[in-house]
Amino acid sequence: MSQIAEYPKVTLDTPMSTSDEPNAGLTRDQIRAMRRSYGEHGLAESDLASDPIAQFKIWLSEAAANPVIVEANAMVLSTVDEWGPASRTVLLKDVSDSGFSFFTNYESNKGRAIATRPEVALLFPWYAMERQVIVKGTASKVSEEVTQEYFSTRPWSSQIGAWASSQSRDLESREHLQARFDEFAAKYPEGSAVPTPPHWGGYLVAPISLEFWQGRYSRLHDRLIFTTSDDGWHLSRLHP
Ligand SMILES: Cc1cc2nc3c(=O)[nH]c(=O)nc-3n(C[C@H](O)[C@H](O)[C@H](O)COP(=O)(O)O)c2cc1C
Repeated sequence: MSQIAEYPKVTLDTPMSTSDEPNAGLTRDQIRAMRRSYGEHGLAESDLASDPIAQFKIWLSEAAANPVIVEANAMVLSTVDEWGPASRTVLLKDVSDSGFSFFTNYESNKGRAIATRPEVALLFPWYAMERQVIVKGTASKVSEEVTQEYFSTRPWSSQIGAWASSQSRDLESREHLQARFDEFAAKYPEGSAVPTPPHWGGYLVAPISLEFWQGRYSRLHDRLIFTTSDDGWHLSRLHP
């Protein structure tokens, strides 16, 4: 059921900028006018696999095969910190019956949020296919073995970057970051085995719900949600 949709085309009454004028941005009316009609292509209960992870894998592979979608494995991770919600993009690196994995700095804002509040949400925004998937679940650290196995597959420069960056902390200058990169590059030269930084690793999000959203005409979108129940996954339909 793969669909290749075009990106929405925004037609503006006035150009956003010319070479002589500064870019004044969009007006309120221009932003309001940005909408597109979604397709006739519906999502019936019978279209879905009985297992939501199997269904997710189908949609992920369709998104990955869609030439319009960049970074099909990018997902918006939302956490709750002492202020409230916070969102950022991370890359999905594995999906299995156990859940969804990503890698990051454990001492970053997201790492510190998860340490006190492991309930998270993941959102896959596949707009070009008029689709999104929203996962809710509980995050826990993967084993050191899993982290090391993945870290060893990363390009050398990414490995050094993981050592150099104190992710989410204040950085006095770009030059300071470059100096830290150069320091670790000298310590672990290209071609050598770079150890995994102790502050870096993976999380597994064990899902409690997965919602499959398909855009439809007149804003009558299809929303089918799997939730965990005593006897496995339960599928229900939500108002759009
Ligand atoms: C497409 C894309 C992919 C990203 N992938 C990751 C990732 O896999 N892991 C990660 O730590 N940050 C990733 N980032 C950077 C995060 O969005 C974020 O800036 C960083 O993790 C710090 O977030 P925090 O301060 O909320 O912890 C990615 C950003 C983009 C735009």
